[in-house]
Amino acid sequence: MDARSLKIKAAAEALTYVKDGMRLGIGTGSTAEEFVRLLATKVASGLKVVGVPTSERTAALCRELGVKLTTLEETPALDLTIDGADEIDPQLALIKGGGGALLREKIVAAASAKMVVIADESKLVSTLGAFPLPIEVNRFGRAATQLAIERAASNLHLSGPVTLRMTGTDAFVTDGGHLILDASFGRIPDTRALSDALHAIPGVVEHGIFLGLARVAILAGADGIRTLTTKTER
Ligand code: A5P
Repeated sequence: MDARSLKIKAAAEALTYVKDGMRLGIGTGSTAEEFVRLLATKVASGLKVVGVPTSERTAALCRELGVKLTTLEETPALDLTIDGADEIDPQLALIKGGGGALLREKIVAAASAKMVVIADESKLVSTLGAFPLPIEVNRFGRAATQLAIERAASNLHLSGPVTLRMTGTDAFVTDGGHLILDASFGRIPDTRALSDALHAIPGVVEHGIFLGLARVAILAGADGIRTLTTKTER
């Protein structure tokens, strides 16, 4: 089965969590886009939901397909967020931000009673970190912030290239107007320690380690769907 079919399968399973009247957080990335497409067909046949998009890209797709949007200003508490991930560990800690939307994704997930992650099973890893960790930083002082990130990582015995994300010859700019540094530290045994250390750096806006947010992961593989849940969800 090809990668797209797996994403569609995971997205279709996630749709079973969506109930009439729900306030949704709507993720970003190729898997989340498959979810939006399926959601839109349900909306067209009468399902009533409103969604907060986690990126301008997702917002545009929702508008195009007729999924009603709201904002966290109008709707500050959401029932359910459905989003993809770059890596998922067995405790449902995540690395996100491969698409550059990690800040809004984390704000939306944190505003939701429940976050369900959808992915193909290749995203499941025993320890996070093979995927370079996206770190959103303020434009001001970028080099100093990068140095502080490298020092904080070194204190945790982590090292590796930290590179400014580019689109062609220009720096990639997030929906919030910030830059992304991709940190290739390799395996991150203590995600909480790295998360706390990064949050303590003034120029860091947010990072792509999601802890304690996802409660369900729907993983699609050649043998079918596997659903992982956190202990509190069981
Ligand atoms: C967007 O910033 C990311 O967090 C995505 O959710 C993540 O990169 C997964 O994307 P795909 O579903 O395209 O792999």
